[in-house]
Amino acid sequence: MSGGTVKAAEIYAAQVDAVKEQLLRLHGGPQPDDSWGGAAASRFRYDPRRALDANLEAIASYVRSEDVVIDAGGGAGRVSLPMAFRCREVINVDSSEGMGEEFRESAAEAGITNARFVQSDWLEVEELQGDVIVTANVTYFVRDIVRFVSKLDEASRRRVVMNVWSVPPPNQRAPLFQLVYEEEQAEVPGYQQLLQVLWEMGILPDVQVQPGAFRAGEVPKTSEEAVHQATQGRWLSPKDQDRGRKLIEQHFQELYESGPEGFRPLWQPETQELLITWEKKGAA
Ligand SMILES: C[S@@+](CC[C@H](N)C(=O)[O-])C[C@H]1O[C@@H](n2cnc3c(N)ncnc32)[C@H](O)[C@@H]1O
Repeated sequence: MSGGTVKAAEIYAAQVDAVKEQLLRLHGGPQPDDSWGGAAASRFRYDPRRALDANLEAIASYVRSEDVVIDAGGGAGRVSLPMAFRCREVINVDSSEGMGEEFRESAAEAGITNARFVQSDWLEVEELQGDVIVTANVTYFVRDIVRFVSKLDEASRRRVVMNVWSVPPPNQRAPLFQLVYEEEQAEVPGYQQLLQVLWEMGILPDVQVQPGAFRAGEVPKTSEEAVHQATQGRWLSPKDQDRGRKLIEQHFQELYESGPEGFRPLWQPETQELLITWEKKGAA
């Protein structure tokens, strides 16, 4: 990898800063210490024994039974816990205590004994080595992207797998953000900015567009559920919850289409998952 200045990284960091500054200004204070804990963490919990969808199958295709899989920012184990049935050991390195609780409970419930949680910032974790290093839906929030990616590469014995949605989930609520805060939402960096950084670092990854839809099968069944889902996430501060909910209710007809399966959010853009992966040089 190139050790030189990565200009794309400066653009990347500026974008992460702009998002933080906007939320700080509009929310009137910083995010709570564990902004991924509580209700946010439970929304990321999925049954580890569920049948793999096509997107997870693509990740599983890189995992061998003798592997140690490290999931950087693995949250509640959505990706890594299903891999625990397919490899020797799973290590989830995540800075959120709340995500750690969900991960441990979910693993215990599923009878998984070969998965452990390390509560740490990925940039601070030391001396961890795995065969496959996975990171899914984390890079949108990472200011020091060059160090983050370098650590992924250094920690891997064979392969790095990064996943991002073509429209990152935090950016998907832009129309709701505009409605509530009456200004354009600052966007987190996505694959365009990430690939630019990787290229400037001298990494030439394979980029595979995945077939599975975002949160497939999770169409809200009632209007109350639809509004509840729309007001989840870190975009809306607790102080704006009531106001946000009322505004979404007032504009419900423009924002949702009702059909036999429930209420489809018209504000949600089409998005596809991208798997960005490379093999470690000289790996067997
Ligand atoms: C959107 S969630 C994704 C969780 C999981 N990877 C998934 O796809 O379901 C982002 C996660 O990244 C974690 N995270 C963000 N920056 C991190 C960092 N620098 N080091 C470790 N974890 C980080 C958060 O704590 C959170 O659990």
